[in-house]
Amino acid sequence: MEKHKVLIVDDDEGIRSQLKWALNEDYEILLAGDADTALKTAQEERPDFVALDITLSDYSHAKEGMDILEPLLAVAPYIKIVMVTGNDDIDLATEAISKGAYDYYIKPIDSDEISLIIKRALRVQKLERRLRINQQKLREGAEFRDIVGASPAMQKVFQLIKAVSPTDETVLITGESGTGKELVARALHFNSPRQKKPFIPINCGAIPEQLLESELFGHEKGAFTGAVGRKLGRFEQANTGTIFLDEIGEMPTNLQVKLLRFLQDHIIERVGGTGFIELDVRIIAATNINLLEAIERREFREDLYYRISVINIELPRLADRGEDVILLANYFLERFCDEYGKPLKKYSPHALQHIRRYEWHGNVRELENRVKKAIIISASKEITPADMGFTPGVEEFRPTTLSEFRQKNEADYIREVLARFKGNISKAARELDISRSTLYDLMEKYQIPRP
Ligand SMILES: Nc1ncnc2c1ncn2[C@@H]1O[C@H](COP(=O)(O)OP(=O)(O)OP(=O)(O)O)[C@@H](O)[C@H]1O
Ligand SMILES: [Mg+2]
Repeated sequence: MEKHKVLIVDDDEGIRSQLKWALNEDYEILLAGDADTALKTAQEERPDFVALDITLSDYSHAKEGMDILEPLLAVAPYIKIVMVTGNDDIDLATEAISKGAYDYYIKPIDSDEISLIIKRALRVQKLERRLRINQQKLREGAEFRDIVGASPAMQKVFQLIKAVSPTDETVLITGESGTGKELVARALHFNSPRQKKPFIPINCGAIPEQLLESELFGHEKGAFTGAVGRKLGRFEQANTGTIFLDEIGEMPTNLQVKLLRFLQDHIIERVGGTGFIELDVRIIAATNINLLEAIERREFREDLYYRISVINIELPRLADRGEDVILLANYFLERFCDEYGKPLKKYSPHALQHIRRYEWHGNVRELENRVKKAIIISASKEITPADMGFTPGVEEFRPTTLSEFRQKNEADYIREVLARFKGNISKAARELDISRSTLYDLMEKYQIPRP
């Protein structure tokens, strides 16, 4: 299990090593002896917990522990900060709490006690994070249940959902695989007056043709071999609610006729049945194939198409949603870190670059899966392109000649090492076994920015 990061800020070397020794086994310990180092470390490492000496006397910069409380919280508001104080600064300590510190602790330090405080703080932090995610979901729920998106393309989608949710209109949702069609179908239902009634999804492409009719419309006892009793179909189950016909393009044409019949007269007939049954069901359909082309191929009925496509919500490809890809990446990051009980991670600048540039043929589902995988396998705070299954650089450009291949690998490796040493040129050069000036030259040649 990955360790949470604990930053100890104290100008007293003795206290730093005492705490490090006491906590080293359970936490990744970071140390800072002055305010500037503390802030810099917090920015780079994003600790979960900080033990902050209140009278940190940093003579060179004349800053005290108290002064960096707020800047630390600004780095990441979820950081739990405990002020470590002497007996005579209790007033200061209470002031710190009013400014956002989590607690205070009076010296002398007892390792077991501080251990317990950290454990409790991290538990609170986890609960807070969960609460925040749930609140976010609730807020979205009031609008559109979990659909993340701020791009103009998605705003249009939201407007359409808002406009058609309250009606009983049939809606056709189109879009490539993984663009969120099912999510939108649910949003339409759960924002409609039918929200407390059944929402029945059925994937028309996943059920064998011979079974689909009885699955949709039900059957009477003895209607066919194996029909031992009467069975209600999905339409009847959805009565007063909504049926979601996913992959409607896969529906066989004989059933398309029956569906058309329902749309016109609101009646169905069970397989082997003798009479019509009147139902009140709203239809939402989705497809990722081009129905107009299916009509050309005579696989989809034109009359049905015009009937269901009066209102068409077309979901844009993820690559056409601009910065939404980053919003979504962060949304999944928070969600999965929480689900897998890992401290909140962040993306490396290089990973963000990949996320922005990648084609995302599998759309949001692919992004979701890549983030999930990264969080499961990554052991550090920062997610790298490799964690997300990106082969360095390959997505951006494919080398053809051997010399291009060499150069590309050289550039990729330099990038990787620079990122590993957080842009520290001396350390990176040492690792690469080249001089600093050669490294500068190569960075210039390949246009590699310092991370
Ligand atoms: N805008 C979004 N915000 C948050 N999550 C999303 C968004 N769009 C899609 N997802 C998530 O991505 C995954 C794929 O979405 P969904 O199943 O709705 O896609 P689909 O269009 O029905 O795909 P397919 O055509 O392959 O069935 C789901 O886990 C869904 O929750
Ligand atoms: Mg789907």
